[in-house]
Amino acid sequence: MKINKNYSKLEENYLFTEIALRTKRFCDANPDAPVIKLGIGDVTLPLPEIAADAIITAFEELKHAETFRGYGPELGYHFARKAVTDYYKNYGVQLDDGEVTIGDGIGSDIANITDIFEKSANTVLVPNPVYPLYKATSLMDNQKIVYIECTAENNFLPAPPDFPSDIIYLCSPNNPTGATFNFAQLQAWVDYANSCSAVILYDNAYERFIEESDKPHSIFQIDGAKTCAIEFGSLSKTAGFTCVRSGYTVVPFALKSDGILLNRMWQQRQTTKYNGAPYPQQRGLQAALSPAGITQADRNIAEYKKNSALITNVLNEKKVFYTGGKNSPYIWFRCPNGMSSWDFFDFLLNKVNVVGTPGVGFGSCGENYFRLTTFNTCVATKEAMERIRGIL
Ligand code: MLT
Repeated sequence: MKINKNYSKLEENYLFTEIALRTKRFCDANPDAPVIKLGIGDVTLPLPEIAADAIITAFEELKHAETFRGYGPELGYHFARKAVTDYYKNYGVQLDDGEVTIGDGIGSDIANITDIFEKSANTVLVPNPVYPLYKATSLMDNQKIVYIECTAENNFLPAPPDFPSDIIYLCSPNNPTGATFNFAQLQAWVDYANSCSAVILYDNAYERFIEESDKPHSIFQIDGAKTCAIEFGSLSKTAGFTCVRSGYTVVPFALKSDGILLNRMWQQRQTTKYNGAPYPQQRGLQAALSPAGITQADRNIAEYKKNSALITNVLNEKKVFYTGGKNSPYIWFRCPNGMSSWDFFDFLLNKVNVVGTPGVGFGSCGENYFRLTTFNTCVATKEAMERIRGIL
């Protein structure tokens, strides 16, 4: 047996696993500590009612012989794929249903799509800091990683480099910094990718949080994106599906390499290695993306945005440098007194029993930064920020 030795290049624990382990250790040692979790971006509000009802109805159908279903189509039911293409019309983007596949969330699809790229053969641009999955999967595949620095100096919004690459990960609104490309900035990335025949893997998990009209909700709003981009969408943060699991991936027919359609390759990959997302989840997705579903989901997002204000009010008062919170559910701020990210994590947990996410866990440029999520309840967030106010 020859194992994939590239796994030895990974961190000992994935970031959110490490945070959960440290939190558990602390809670075991301090069982009465009133710990508040503003670490992993996990939702707390219930599903939009229309989505929950659709899921329940779907399970009910499975209970009866007349409506029971077995295997579904691996790439997604037509009703779900159409729900996605209809949703994109809100942003003026026309897609063919065949360009959309339904999955169980961005994490899996953005990792699984790497199957269609040759291992050890691609130069991959990974923003630093960014959601740690992109680096981890690139390491597993032994790709050559080039980090692109996102710092306060470039407002955490890097411009394309002056050298070619093959695969580019972009996440906008960005996790963790909340920085969001405007149309012109994203156009520059699309032009760059087309100029060197690279593909952009565009993580669009947080688009529903965008407030500013100069920021695109999809990379396909940008001219030329269909020949260079794959977009990943998720219901996790939009409609509270972190438990339900549902997402979609758009691989345009116009995206080719050496005349081969990447859409075809992704279909081959999925029909071979994946049996399709569960039917009830797809009914949930369909309902959540309907106009009524979006209205209900946006109500939840508005609630989370109140937490943004609770967090940023304290940071403003204490004159702490921060970004995010406007177009994204994360607030990214500089640790006080030049503390390292992990030192501040331990300090916060021990002193005021609040869990956050150390910025360095998203990349070396995140050192001395810290991320708080707005996804907890208003009551818990208010309490956490009262405690944090006392130590800043
Ligand atoms: C985060 O906290 O960065 C994300 O919620 C984690 C995830 O989506 O896997």
